[in-house]
Amino acid sequence: MQRFEAYLEANLPTVETFHPHYNKALSAMLLAGGKRLRPMLLLSVVEAYEPLLFEGALAPALALEFLHTYSLIHDDLPAMDNAPLRRGFETLHITYDKATAILIGDALNTEAFYRIAKAPLRDDIRIKLVELLARDGGTYGMILGQSIDIHFENTPLNLEQIKILHTNKTAKLIATSLLMGAVIVGLEKSKQEELYRFGIDLGLLFQIQDDIIDETHSDEEAGKTTGNDGDKNSFVNLIGLEKSIEEAEKLAKNLEQQFTHFDKVLQDGLKDIVQKYLYRHR
Ligand code: IPE
Ligand code: IPE
Ligand code: MG
Ligand code: MG
Ligand code: MG
Repeated sequence: MQRFEAYLEANLPTVETFHPHYNKALSAMLLAGGKRLRPMLLLSVVEAYEPLLFEGALAPALALEFLHTYSLIHDDLPAMDNAPLRRGFETLHITYDKATAILIGDALNTEAFYRIAKAPLRDDIRIKLVELLARDGGTYGMILGQSIDIHFENTPLNLEQIKILHTNKTAKLIATSLLMGAVIVGLEKSKQEELYRFGIDLGLLFQIQDDIIDETHSDEEAGKTTGNDGDKNSFVNLIGLEKSIEEAEKLAKNLEQQFTHFDKVLQDGLKDIVQKYLYRHR
């Protein structure tokens, strides 16, 4: 975690320009903090199997955080969730204006792929990483999920559809974080798939917990605008708080079960981070 934070601070996007706040706005939400879950997942897989590749894995880990941060900046815009608080700070459209938030989001999105392209990794690996991040962080994943989320505000979906929504908007990027780590260390296909399936379930649990947090936490506790899901197809809105917690418990147990099938080195590497999120709804 410390190594990642130091790398992030040393590798923030900065541009020589006469624009008065372009650089500050680019870095603001990255420096505001966040749990860094996605980079931690990628780096934990790499550290578990091939510690010598850790240095080379920092760029794609940062790329994940760039893409995720861009998704949050856009998610908070008035046209989407209209949230003034993120990671304990004012959102960019409040500090500056909506155009700045849109443009900084755009910049962090493209910057993610720029960093992978320039990463000190084998060509075929870099191409695969671009493919996976584009797929799950874009058209076939996060953007599809966000589109369903916004389009169906105030239109109830069924449980199956909400799972599809959560899988796309949140779980695929989390799963692909593990998968990118697996690609960097060259894990065999079956193990890559096992890790990806685990990541999807972990991501689903993560979003159910996020829906619970929206209901149970204050803005100050969460560091972001909560009580904001009234119009949403959240788990809490569909099945209620208690049932959502039950669902989260079930998923967490199931994840623990899947975890026991992983290689010992991987279990050791992922243990702390996975444990931290299994029962955070309690
Ligand atoms: C928030 O993501 C949006 C969801 C996908 C639930 P995180 O909860 O990972 O946000 P940060 O990165 O810690 O700010
Ligand atoms: C957003 O989900 C997920 C993204 C892809 C950004 P939410 O709208 O529930 O995330 P929060 O609660 O604002 O962090
Ligand atoms: Mg949203
Ligand atoms: Mg939101
Ligand atoms: Mg939420």
